[in-house]
Amino acid sequence: MKNYIKHDPWKIIEEGFDMKNHTASESLFSLGNGRFGQRANFEEKYSGKSLPGNYVAGVYYPDKTRVGWWKNGYPEYFAKVLNAPNWIGINVNIEGEELDLAKCKVSDFERILDMKEGYLHRKFTAELPSGKKVKVDAKRLLSMTDDETAVIKYQVEALNFSGKISFTPYIDGDVKNEDANYDEKFWDEVGKEVSGNEGYITVTTKKTDFHVCTGMKIKLFLDAKELEIKPQALVKDKYIQTRIDTEIQKGQTLCLVKYAAITSSMNYEKHEVLGACHKALVRACAKSFETMLKEQAHWWQAKWEHGDIIVNGDVAAQQGIRFNIFQLNQTYTGEDERLNIGPKGFTGEKYGGSTYWDTEAYCLPFYLATAEENVSRNLLKYRHKQLDKAIENAQKLGFKNGAALYPMVTMNGEECHNEWEITFEEIHRNGAIAFAIYDYVRYTGDKAYLAEFGLEVLIAISRFWSQRVSWSEAKKQYVMLGVTGPNEYENNVNNNWYTSKIAIWTLKYAQEALEYVKQTEPTRYTEILEKTNFNFKSENEKWSDIIENMYFAYNEELKVFMQQDGFMDKEQILAKDLPMAERPINQNWSWDRILRSVFIKQADVLQGIYLFEDEFDMDTIHRNFDFYEPRTVHESSLSPCVHSIIASKIGDNKRAYQFYLRTARLDLDDYNNEVHEGCHITSMAGTWMSFVKGFGGMRIKNDKPYFAPYIPEEWESYSFKVNFRQVILQIFVSKNEISIHNLSEKSIQLTVFDKDYNLNAKSKISV
Ligand code: BGC
Repeated sequence: MKNYIKHDPWKIIEEGFDMKNHTASESLFSLGNGRFGQRANFEEKYSGKSLPGNYVAGVYYPDKTRVGWWKNGYPEYFAKVLNAPNWIGINVNIEGEELDLAKCKVSDFERILDMKEGYLHRKFTAELPSGKKVKVDAKRLLSMTDDETAVIKYQVEALNFSGKISFTPYIDGDVKNEDANYDEKFWDEVGKEVSGNEGYITVTTKKTDFHVCTGMKIKLFLDAKELEIKPQALVKDKYIQTRIDTEIQKGQTLCLVKYAAITSSMNYEKHEVLGACHKALVRACAKSFETMLKEQAHWWQAKWEHGDIIVNGDVAAQQGIRFNIFQLNQTYTGEDERLNIGPKGFTGEKYGGSTYWDTEAYCLPFYLATAEENVSRNLLKYRHKQLDKAIENAQKLGFKNGAALYPMVTMNGEECHNEWEITFEEIHRNGAIAFAIYDYVRYTGDKAYLAEFGLEVLIAISRFWSQRVSWSEAKKQYVMLGVTGPNEYENNVNNNWYTSKIAIWTLKYAQEALEYVKQTEPTRYTEILEKTNFNFKSENEKWSDIIENMYFAYNEELKVFMQQDGFMDKEQILAKDLPMAERPINQNWSWDRILRSVFIKQADVLQGIYLFEDEFDMDTIHRNFDFYEPRTVHESSLSPCVHSIIASKIGDNKRAYQFYLRTARLDLDDYNNEVHEGCHITSMAGTWMSFVKGFGGMRIKNDKPYFAPYIPEEWESYSFKVNFRQVILQIFVSKNEISIHNLSEKSIQLTVFDKDYNLNAKSKISV
């Protein structure tokens, strides 16, 4: 755990430069705009340890699979979002000496992520080995309003010398992924041009042939007056630069503005990518840095206006939740249904930037309540579009008759994961995709989605479950053998409670959906049955039989659901008894020891209790929580949030708050000692859920929003907004008041602590 980020309600602040925190800070201070993003690498040369990272959403490379022991059914490749051309570089040379913070004495260093206005700011004074001192002030932003453009304003003041200074802004396409399986570079050059202060480079991905053009245009100012510059161009393989040599007098400030544009063949024909990049750069340059910043601040102001969560009386908690909301919004804007949310967003390479069950299980509720309806619809359509691939994926594993197994990890619908115990066995992800349809319909009331897209997906997933279970003669029940639950610290188990639970739930929901579509859209119903070749009688009967006769492991003595068969055979020790030095266990123990231990990586039975809470009474929830939580090491970022929500539900407010802080500040305080690899973007949506569903007690019940708010002891008050079917509600909670304000023009019915209210437009109730 680290503790170097200064607490502030609106800013992420690092004071003082400590090289050992640099790669973690590169993740934390990352920027993105939904279309592209980057780690907070320095503009000037840095010879210390760094993980350069620039990413363009949707642009990926199928890296040939590398495994020790090939198993039939493995995918041929792992699709990864690529480290794309680095456009931020500006080398600075002062009288022959390179500005490099790894080689200078650095003072007054400050790095600030301004979440209110959406830009990155860095200031420092550097003393070069020769004794020359410069003061640097660098700001940059990735435009949210024109998502093909970005800008950097880089100022250098000569503090104790006069002399020659040269700036070399460049674009470097000769980059590679740290996680490349064969140490291969993934880009080929298509073309490049530099003239004067402007340059472009177009590169293409090997195999997938995505074209990406990156352009830059430079302006230089001396004490605010624009200078005429005569840059010298240099080009190398996949690289362009334009060097500007100039003079600086002691006390003067030179300011270089680097405008950048990035376009790709995701959005243009290949032959148009360069022209589009040129146009984007013209648009950016026509504005000044200040105008771009103003537009950015404006965009964020509107975003915060609807999606902010305000905490009074606890700056650490406030900063935590805003950081999570900020990162989610800069990762995914929901405008493009081909895109999705990688677990690390634009902040690192881990997980390949691909789509996981995280999207449906964690992210969807955030976008449902804070973004336009089409944003969550797009997330669902993404999976509908990939249904054929999910069916092919299941076929590869031996399933038939249109059964679909959605991939554990994917970019285009094909499975990319290649560890048998997860690829073939962590099949609960299929259930999350079905549950997301239910969650979306329940929230938005858009039941038409079922006939349009949802039912086809539900049929295919249900077919998978009905083939994946097997009949046990010994038990005279259906069982689910050889699975991995959400707890990946346990593989190839029989009857994982969560997996069986979500499987059965899916079968029931698919039956309901069939009935609903039959009643409301009979023509479409017949069409779907024909298209999917669905034999209603035999398939539906089989589903009912499985629903009625599924086996679930249960411990009569403890009265808790058993995570899987044999769980009680393990040595029953608790996480609190683990020495701190051995945690996280995944960094200190052998995998074999982890697998045999009782320790649970993340919510597993509790994930099911969280999703299907209405099926259980409070005592059951309590007992299961008290049994499983103490055995959980929370070494997945997705764990504390679910625990926080359940703790809130059972009134264990203290623990709810502790889990909340852990999820909200997971990256800022680097709980799991891994933030240098990137931030946990998908779990940030979990943080939001632990606030709104946990403290706010928000649910959807009987087609209406339901709230049961309480306030953690440490806070004075809090408020959040959610949108629900064109109504925006603001919930305010203090120690002695709960009020709900309908900010829209439409009235709404809602429930607070089991009492129903009709809340007129623009009116407020206090409870
Ligand atoms: C978790 C998975 C999750 C993945 C990506 C893993 O550590 O165990 O549940 O899907 O990370 O976030």
